Amino acid sequence: MTTESGSSERRTGKGNGWLSLPVWMGIAIAGLLVVLVLLLGLLAVSIMERRWEAQRPSMVVRPIAQWEPDNAVWGQNYPREYESYLKTRISDTKTKYGGSFPRDYLEADPLQVILFAGYGFSKDYLQGRGHYHAVEDVAGTARIAKPFQAGTCWSCKSTDVPRLMAKMGVKEFYASNFHDLAGEVKHPIGCQDCHDPETLKLRITRPALREAFAAMGKDIDQATHQEMRSLVCAQCHVEYYFKTDEKEGLKNYLVFPWAKGTTLEEMMAYYDQIEHKDYVHPISGAPIVKAQHPDYELYLTGVHAYRGVSCADCHMPYRTEGGVKYTDHHVQSPLLNIANSCAVCHRWSEDEIRTRVEGIQTKTEAAKLAAEDALVKAHFDVAAAVQAGAKPEDLAGPRKLLRQGHFRWDFISANNGMGFHSPQESVRLLGEAANLAQQARVETARLLARLGVTQSVAYPDISTRAKAWEVAQGFVQGQGVKLLP
Ligand code: HEC
Ligand code: HEC
Ligand code: HEC
Ligand code: HEC
Repeated sequence: MTTESGSSERRTGKGNGWLSLPVWMGIAIAGLLVVLVLLLGLLAVSIMERRWEAQRPSMVVRPIAQWEPDNAVWGQNYPREYESYLKTRISDTKTKYGGSFPRDYLEADPLQVILFAGYGFSKDYLQGRGHYHAVEDVAGTARIAKPFQAGTCWSCKSTDVPRLMAKMGVKEFYASNFHDLAGEVKHPIGCQDCHDPETLKLRITRPALREAFAAMGKDIDQATHQEMRSLVCAQCHVEYYFKTDEKEGLKNYLVFPWAKGTTLEEMMAYYDQIEHKDYVHPISGAPIVKAQHPDYELYLTGVHAYRGVSCADCHMPYRTEGGVKYTDHHVQSPLLNIANSCAVCHRWSEDEIRTRVEGIQTKTEAAKLAAEDALVKAHFDVAAAVQAGAKPEDLAGPRKLLRQGHFRWDFISANNGMGFHSPQESVRLLGEAANLAQQARVETARLLARLGVTQSVAYPDISTRAKAWEVAQGFVQGQGVKLLP
């Protein structure tokens, strides 16, 4: 009895778990499990397929020719990268100091009309836009001269350039006339500028960067993968000049002035050694070097470069779409995409990140305007000394100081990002620029006193772009306004 009742108790399973569930429920659970396993299997297959798709670079759908310039052809194989690249066409985004629209620097800051007097940048100086517009924008700027402009000016605008260099020869490409190549240069900066068509690996297509590394005794082929994520940009976002040397058979040959190094002092020492100047300032007579857009060189002095963060980390962050991770090719201001560009490393809120960046930029701008004010006055002071009859040998000192100060200011002013890429270096150089300009002014004041002039210089009204242009043109034509009573 007891055993029977015991076993019957066991069979009825009072409080004894799932074994005692009714049969129909067991079948239902088993059925559910089968369905669940099937679903999991399907999900796994789909993930594998997506991964496979994401890794597609190794299995090209359509082979791409060595110098294929057409981004749309590459796009057939890599639609995500191509579609995101096409967004560099967008040109109505604004941030406090950047974004993608043709901000008119000269309207905003007439001092620059004076600083670039007699040079193309006093005529037309617009903020850059996305890569998609590079060809139309260079063709449209009033800085391109007619009937001759160096073919070199196409170098950083188009993915037709490597193809043309291969066809014509590098020297011949640079020596050509910009206008003669217009029919051949069609495609804006694109895939082929940064990628090998077969392996899709990052590569250097511009000889000037390769040669600049060689001049520093470095081999660019030894660069790490992380360095390449900045070096592809350094093909264009750098300081450069055009070298003409009949003995070497070079005309308008593109050179980055890095033989002594990439800091401002090293580049300036190089320019001083070869006595390079882009223009003689029509107001002061100082031999000026125009800074281009030394984004890479300034970036190298900042904390992000020190910590191995690349241009692509901020300007081409990863994006995930339908489980696929790919590189966002919409190269733009990172402030328009803080979540992907910065917040992956910095756990601050978006507002806080934007505020910190704008804080750095606002301070840089204040230092920049102070340097401009001092430089503009120094140009006029030297002109006043000329009007008072100073001899050229007496003016060599102030002119040299102006050249040094001017390049330091322009190095930061022409840089993109308003100082963000290296805040301390930016204000250091702007501070030096102002100091050098003030030294030039002190020397000139002493000279004026020796010439019997003790009144202060009467600075003309340059408060608007139009007024500044008038004043600058006067000096260009050799009839500058009277600066002394
Ligand atoms: C740590 C992130 C970071 C790195 C690394 C970085 N940038 Fe930037 N960059 C920024 C920020 C932030 C701005 C300011 C954008 C603004 O003001 O809207 C900027 C601005 C720019 C701009 C102007 C864009 C605009 O819309 O005004 C260019 C061009 C640029 N950077 C190029 C480069 C290049 C080339 C490199 C590498 C040599 C580089 N950046 C490295 C964060 C970065
Ligand atoms: C082949 C030359 C070239 C290369 C390579 C290149 N750039 Fe540019 N970049 C330009 C030119 C030229 C412009 C200005 C185009 C215009 O205004 O029409 C520009 C504009 C930009 C802008 C401004 C876009 C905007 O919307 O305001 C950013 C940001 C930028 N580049 C970042 C980079 C980064 C980051 C890299 C590397 C991953 C890079 N660039 C590689 C030539 C180049
Ligand atoms: C200014 C340089 C630049 C240009 C122009 C450019 N890419 Fe890239 N691309 C990069 C960088 C940087 C990476 C990241 C590579 C890495 O870290 O290995 C990348 C990655 C890729 C990858 C690897 C997968 C991924 O998304 O990370 C593909 C595919 C690709 N690019 C296709 C293209 C295509 C197609 C175009 C033209 C529409 C193009 N790229 C234009 C710089 C560029
Ligand atoms: C790949 C990681 C990474 C990314 C992406 C990144 N940063 Fe940084 N950032 C760092 C590191 C590392 C430091 C240095 C911190 C240290 O060493 O104490 C730093 C420092 C800073 C600093 C303080 C130093 C200074 O220069 O004043 C600021 C501000 C900053 N980052 C802003 C940004 C912004 C804005 C972005 C996006 C446009 C960004 N960072 C993207 C890694 C990153």
